[in-house]
Amino acid sequence: MCGIVGYIGEKNGIPIVIEGLKRLEYRGYDSSGICYHKSGTLRIKKKKGKVSDLEALISKNSFGNIVMGHTRWATHGKPSDKNAHPHISMNKKISIVHNGIIENYDSIKEGLIQRGYKFKSETDTEVLVNLIEYVQIDLKVSLIEAVQQALTQVIGAYSIAVMSSNDSSNLVLAKKGSPLVIGVGQEEHYIASDPSPFLKYTKKAIYLDDDEVAEISKNKLSILTFDKKIKSPTINKLTMELEEIEKGGFETFMLKEIYEQPKSIVDTLRGRIIKKSQIIKLRGFNESVDTFKRAKRIVIVACGTSWIAGLVAEYIIEGLAKLPVEVEYASEFRYRNPIIYKNDIVIAFSQSGETADTISALKLAKENGALLYGICNVVGSSISRLVNVGTFTHAGPEIGVASTKAFTAQVSVSILIALAIAKLRKQISKNDFKEITDALLSIHEKMQYTLSNCNNKIKQIARKYKNSRNALYLGRGLSFPVALEGALKLKEISYIHAEGYPAAEMKHGPIALIDENMPTIIIATNKRNYEKIFSNAQEIKARNGKLIAIVSQGDNQISKIADHVIEVPKTNYYLSPLINTIPLQLFSYYIASFRGCNVDQPRNLAKSVTVE
Ligand code: AGP
Repeated sequence: MCGIVGYIGEKNGIPIVIEGLKRLEYRGYDSSGICYHKSGTLRIKKKKGKVSDLEALISKNSFGNIVMGHTRWATHGKPSDKNAHPHISMNKKISIVHNGIIENYDSIKEGLIQRGYKFKSETDTEVLVNLIEYVQIDLKVSLIEAVQQALTQVIGAYSIAVMSSNDSSNLVLAKKGSPLVIGVGQEEHYIASDPSPFLKYTKKAIYLDDDEVAEISKNKLSILTFDKKIKSPTINKLTMELEEIEKGGFETFMLKEIYEQPKSIVDTLRGRIIKKSQIIKLRGFNESVDTFKRAKRIVIVACGTSWIAGLVAEYIIEGLAKLPVEVEYASEFRYRNPIIYKNDIVIAFSQSGETADTISALKLAKENGALLYGICNVVGSSISRLVNVGTFTHAGPEIGVASTKAFTAQVSVSILIALAIAKLRKQISKNDFKEITDALLSIHEKMQYTLSNCNNKIKQIARKYKNSRNALYLGRGLSFPVALEGALKLKEISYIHAEGYPAAEMKHGPIALIDENMPTIIIATNKRNYEKIFSNAQEIKARNGKLIAIVSQGDNQISKIADHVIEVPKTNYYLSPLINTIPLQLFSYYIASFRGCNVDQPRNLAKSVTVE
């Protein structure tokens, strides 16, 4: 997720765009840049770091009345000056800023290299701007026609703004899968990824739809649909205030990020499942396939929610690929003199890629000759640079301290890796592979359904339990780590003590805790062990425990005895954490909100624990 801002009019657009980029830093902040016209050439200033670092680079006398800018959240190519946007084509006549992912950029790049193109950056965006240049020269067409034609060759998601040195009056825009909105002023237009950069100048906005291209000047605007038909723009009157826009209309970043999960799963899976040939396309895995062939085990090191994602990965990899997996708290692993074999694959899960304990655990594994594999959400982070290979989760910036969309993105990458190993080790049938990948490619719909249909009921239940002093979360199989995650969410944002437990472990002690003041959340969606978890539910009710049950739609046993029932869509067992985690995130969110807690910045916590 990146931020795009642009201005075209009589004013000096440079300070307007710089200020606008600062408003969009929540969308990405590892590097930024601007491009503007000056005496028939395109001037580009760009830099790794925050927008304030870019601002320091730009002279106060710089002037431009057609300006575009970008603040980056790296997906292809680490954060650096050369990978920052805007990018310029080889003949220096076309510049672009881009938000999104071009899935087939490598094949397009290959074709351009064969036609003599050279590239300075590692980004998919630089490929796109050179494709536009190539098409414009080859077909001898206008910029908007070249953009439209070039995009017919592109697979992926994008919102782009393009500028040509030959035209100092117009910007060309295009949108598919990533947002782009036009602010309509008096003899001026603004563009942005969301309205926050131009809200103080105008509340009139035009939202581009997918597959549309547009050409804007200071007082003209034309929109073409994918089949080149002129579309008359709809001007919306904005009512949201600035703060609401940054949070997408949600009251907190955490709630916004819980609701972003269907999209972040689509982004994380994008281009990584080749259905026809039943291939999992993970560069990190493919570059280390020989090591995966030889490996006798995987060791996972992580902390907090990422450690729980590692536990989910253990169940899935062992279940599908029959390769032994051990999951270690990074902080314990690094100090207990673990046995590490040089054939080991050590996988680190980390949203931030900066967690000190996880970094140290990786360094210990490296000293012992293991292959280091990173699953991170931040491109260019310390862990992503320390490991030999890895796979990024494309969840976008996670601002809320409590991890939500990063967790489900880590789970979806774990499923991909498990499938890839299972194929490699010939442990999975074509039918099972098809069943799981088909379910994975549509899981975002069930996640959206769960968000839309469970939210209000969960909010009502949360209101009843907001003053609880303790809570118990129970699950079996894959629902056990999900129970741990539910408990961690409640602890860290509502400050209520909670424990996650394997349901069968109840009788080995925790059942002594059950009484009418102890709410128990039981996750009972999996057919595999349903009868057993039904008995656990009965044990709780027999002791007057309050029971909140997460069940599959159509359940008619546990839902008959539970005090509260939350029904979620049925899905493949291995995908169930992607669905079952959502009600637990919402439950902890609403309890914390009713308790007046600061859910985005809970007390005593930091988003990235870079100290031991
Ligand atoms: C999760 O909600 C917490 N914020 C915390 O446990 C976090 O998962 C842990 O600190 C690990 O962070 P990382 O994923 O950035 O390595």
